[in-house]
Amino acid sequence: MSISAPERVWWTPVDKDEKIWVTIALIFCLVTFFMMPFYHVVGKQNTSSESYRIDPAEFEKRTELFIQQSEKVGETANGLPIVKPRGEDVYLLARQFQFEPALQLEKGKTYRFHLSSVDVQHGMSILPLNMNWMVIPEYDYIVTITPTTSGEFPIVCNEFCGAAHHAMLGMIIVK
Ligand code: CUA
Repeated sequence: MSISAPERVWWTPVDKDEKIWVTIALIFCLVTFFMMPFYHVVGKQNTSSESYRIDPAEFEKRTELFIQQSEKVGETANGLPIVKPRGEDVYLLARQFQFEPALQLEKGKTYRFHLSSVDVQHGMSILPLNMNWMVIPEYDYIVTITPTTSGEFPIVCNEFCGAAHHAMLGMIIVK
């Protein structure tokens, strides 16, 4: 059997329904594409872009100093101090496998959170709010936070950082 040439018009012309759906899909793609830069500028979800290079040992020292200078208001179930900052600066150090220290904050007061890790990359996720940041070693990343609701807000690590990643927790109490 020999190969014969296809018919001159071998394809089925695009019908009306298909044209409509392709147009809708294209419009949807364009809308989401332009929403990304638009929301980056207009949305209120962006955190600060303030960060500094820091030696992990130096960050650890500053966190210890912060704990010493803060008011100790209690202890968590696993023996971590709960501290109440005296100023607006708050240090939160991530390490395998916990966030230190536990914090007690005042509702309505604005804090400058210094986030860093002394070992590997971690993720800080405040529950049950959908707030997430990367915690990266050698960077003092500053996030401005004003708690508006009182209660207990556990922190979980949302970046796989080792064997006990799932057990890496912290705590923010707002009063
Ligand atoms: Cu720290 Cu996962």
